[in-house]
Amino acid sequence: MNRISEDVIEKIRNTIDIVDVVSEYVQLKKQGRNYFGLCPFHGENSPSFSVSTEKQIYHCFGCGAGGNVFSFLMEIEGLSFLESVKLAAKRTNVELPDTLETHQTTNQSSRASKMIEAHELLKKFYHHLLVNTKEGEKPLEYLINRGITRETIDTFGIGYSPSSWDFATKFLQKRGFSLELLEHAGITIRNHEGKHFDRFRNRVMFPLWDLQGQVTAFSGRIIDSGEPKYLNSPETEIFHKGKNLYGFHLAKSHIRKKQQAILLEGFMDVISLHRAELPFSIATMGTALTDDQIRIIRRNVDHVTVCFDSDNAGIVAAYKASSLLRAAGCEVRVALMPEGHDPDDYIKKFGPEKFRTNVIGASLTLMAFKLQYFKRGRDLQDEADRISYIDEVLKEISALSKPVERDHYLRQLSDEFSISLDALKSQAYQQYKQQKKRDNVPSSRNNISTRPTMQSKMRPAYQNAERLLLAHMLRSQEVTEKVQQSLQGLFNIEEHSAIAAYLYAFYEDGHAPSVNAFISRVEEKELQRIISELSMLNINEDISQQELADYIKQVLNYPKLLKIKEKEQERRDAERKQEFVQAAQIQMEILQMKKELK
Ligand code: UTP
Ligand code: MN
Repeated sequence: MNRISEDVIEKIRNTIDIVDVVSEYVQLKKQGRNYFGLCPFHGENSPSFSVSTEKQIYHCFGCGAGGNVFSFLMEIEGLSFLESVKLAAKRTNVELPDTLETHQTTNQSSRASKMIEAHELLKKFYHHLLVNTKEGEKPLEYLINRGITRETIDTFGIGYSPSSWDFATKFLQKRGFSLELLEHAGITIRNHEGKHFDRFRNRVMFPLWDLQGQVTAFSGRIIDSGEPKYLNSPETEIFHKGKNLYGFHLAKSHIRKKQQAILLEGFMDVISLHRAELPFSIATMGTALTDDQIRIIRRNVDHVTVCFDSDNAGIVAAYKASSLLRAAGCEVRVALMPEGHDPDDYIKKFGPEKFRTNVIGASLTLMAFKLQYFKRGRDLQDEADRISYIDEVLKEISALSKPVERDHYLRQLSDEFSISLDALKSQAYQQYKQQKKRDNVPSSRNNISTRPTMQSKMRPAYQNAERLLLAHMLRSQEVTEKVQQSLQGLFNIEEHSAIAAYLYAFYEDGHAPSVNAFISRVEEKELQRIISELSMLNINEDISQQELADYIKQVLNYPKLLKIKEKEQERRDAERKQEFVQAAQIQMEILQMKKELK
């Protein structure tokens, strides 16, 4: 069996800081003793995901996700416990026994890692062909002509796939990859006669990375003209176009540092922007922005500048993408270029300096962009067009959350069309009220709160008592012992009695209180969530004997109260049947039971 000893796990757990690990996925801000950010496990606009340095656990007040560093990695990377320990170990200098490296992972993930290995090898070989061989001269010249330097070629691992039907197939087969695997990986294509051949031939090859920076696919550009311009790997077990953003692994640290991202449409644009010293750039790959991509962006950064091609399709796409990002809670700006340009050819023509100042530096707020956008296809000299334009714009303005902003754009509109500000204001307010009725939302315009909202579920008293007892037990062995003596496993909620059982064993094994260590012993995700939530509760660490006794009584009384309710029903039934003697007898029992409650 592949087990890592408890000692090693503990060492890793104690060396690593959960805040560092979570920060790689979620933008965290310190607030009091804890860190807060947007939960990576469910879509949200206001941060309810909290991480405690002191306790080394995380908990989301919104969706209830929670656990320690291993649970986090398991959930976010889709790993097994063992894999999460291995991943965490990489960040520390704790050594794992070698045997773990060789045999363990499931079939599924070992095939995936084989597929990635094939891509990595092929990437190196394509790159070698491009920079070191005669065959690569023409494609290299093509790249240089496009202004791409040797350094950039290396950074982005650009290569060349030769004009051969079976170069990649043979190359990888020789290294032990089966044809079946290569076909699954999208590297080879099988024709109707069952013959395998290379998908990419005579193209400039761009490796595509997943979010962790592993090559999982390629896109190949034709060197001269022809169709398709870019040929991409198909969707596979390891490559999902809509869950990826080109350049993300290279941009991530810059995005975090800058607190800003530039979203582009094409990967040539990303490459150019890196060269223009704007390395916090990422791209969709020519497709509409997906929910997954929005989530990736949202959990890393607040400010996004959308810079798409300035042609018709690009502007429409920019409008859609920026609206979606805004709805997800990002602060969005839109950067435009003269008609017909894309960022890459703008930089080539006017230079990086101009791009930084006249395009990115001159980017518009989303609202200012919309004011322009709605003019498209309208003749503002025409009265009907003008009125419908103003109508559309007012709808947008009325949806803005800040009064100062609303005022600013209303004034602008009033100036531009010589309409009285009061008239615009009252119409904007009408719009706002109508919209509110449609959405049926509470009256505040600003529904993006910055404070984490503790989901305040109304819980019955016995449940609260159980939760508070456990919360104290997690922090104190003494309390746990007292509870164990008087309550044992008699919690009314099954999960609570399971947690209590784990906790008794944990302390009996000689551990001191530590949620982080405790969570590692609990395998059930549901229990881990509850434990994290309870340990994040704001409780007064000292609990008086009286308080403790009260909670225990609440818990013990609950089943008795249920029983009393049952009896009361029986008594009513008896009364209805006119069996008064029996009813009186039951009433006696009830009184006796009630006495025992105290
Ligand atoms: P563009 O047509 O804007 O490409 O497509 P580009 O970035 O300007 O490329 P160059 O400058 O002509 O070389 C934008 C993105 O759409 C995807 C690619 O991901 C590209 O980066 N695309 C485009 C394809 O997947 N296939 C195609 O045939 C064309
Ligand atoms: Mn281009």
